[in-house]
Amino acid sequence: MKRSILITGGAGFIGSHVVRLFVNKYPEYNIINLDKLTYAGNLANLKDVENKPNYVFVKADICDFDTILSIFDKYSIDGVIHLAAESHVDRSIKDPFLFAQTNVIGTLSLLQAAKATWEKSGVETKLFYHISTDEVYGSLGSEGFFTEETPYDPHSPYSASKASSDHFVKAFHDTYGLPAVISNCSNNYGPYQFPEKLIPLFINNIRNNKPLPVYGKGENVRDWLYVIDHARAIDVIFHKGRVGETYNIGGFNEWKNIDLIKVMIKVTDRLLGRNEGASDSLITYVTDRAGHDLRYAIDSGKLKNELGWEPSLQFEEGIEKTVQWYLDNQEWLDGVTSGEYQEYYKKMYSV
Ligand code: NAD
Ligand code: DAU
Repeated sequence: MKRSILITGGAGFIGSHVVRLFVNKYPEYNIINLDKLTYAGNLANLKDVENKPNYVFVKADICDFDTILSIFDKYSIDGVIHLAAESHVDRSIKDPFLFAQTNVIGTLSLLQAAKATWEKSGVETKLFYHISTDEVYGSLGSEGFFTEETPYDPHSPYSASKASSDHFVKAFHDTYGLPAVISNCSNNYGPYQFPEKLIPLFINNIRNNKPLPVYGKGENVRDWLYVIDHARAIDVIFHKGRVGETYNIGGFNEWKNIDLIKVMIKVTDRLLGRNEGASDSLITYVTDRAGHDLRYAIDSGKLKNELGWEPSLQFEEGIEKTVQWYLDNQEWLDGVTSGEYQEYYKKMYSV
């Protein structure tokens, strides 16, 4: 079936993998990638698909309701995969207003545009798919897992804004009958992640012999999922997920930060041809993140049992591929941090 799917935040880390998967796997769909190109959005992430006939890029802000409404109309959007967001917890602590604006008002603007457009054309075959995070559930002790029934308990301005956006999506489903589905995923890693997040930041610092700032005692635990496995889950949920439902997505792969950091050091040193232990002294314990959640762990049994999704990549293979990718793509790292690519594409799209 010919579909027009609006993917928001498609120039970011996870969004670019979702756009690539959909453009290549579904040549019969029109994929509209809508992104504001903030510091985190980079069209260099999508060079391999930018000339495909079923792909179009639109530079826009999800908070700009009139523009969003006109895009729904112009492209006859019948499906939305909404990833655009401010996504970094540390930034949210410094600038909570921006997170409320983008993540809450931006999501509301998309919901309202979908509702207004689909009320006219009929909601059958339409879907608003909201991509969210496990951080909305708060923090676990040493035992237990987040399920879809875990009550929301966000602690950072980032997770509070994502929780709020989830509630708006549910409210639009319950109040207006908007066909919507939500997924809440654990920490992603892999190529094209902006080097402010733990894994790309640390690989880059190891390479450049810079300190590795470990928050607190490094005892916080995260569940890591290879980004392409997240994109695969999004594909499955978009096509087979039950409307009105939430699905948790996780990697069955918990790591204490300090143990993960030691693995990264080992793999990076080996791939750089350095002696084992050469970069151990870069570990630098720093003041903890305010409100730092101790542990996230996801039970993704519902997704496995209902829709048959499981992670395909073992962590050992995923981290090796990821370290190698960042070492091979220093130019990309330099580009995203210098803003050079953003300037180039801003000129290209005359914005
Ligand atoms: P990212 O920061 O790499 O990318 C976000 C993208 O959104 C960028 O391309 C940016 O330009 C765009 N954007 C920001 N504000 C916008 C606006 N106002 N209008 C249009 N575009 C805008 O984020 P990511 O890590 O790829 O995360 C994508 C989504 O997945 C987010 O919603 C995030 O909450 C969620 N998520 C992320 C993770 C993770 O580990 N990274 C895990 C679970 C869920
Ligand atoms: O759980 C899903 C979430 O994972 C997503 O919703 C967020 O968008 C994504 O950014 C990520 O949030 P985290 O805060 O868990 O990711 P981050 O990479 O910032 O940090 C991972 C862990 O490493 C966390 O416990 C904080 C710690 N850390 C992070 C940085 C950047 C450090 O110790 N030092 C650092 O310099």
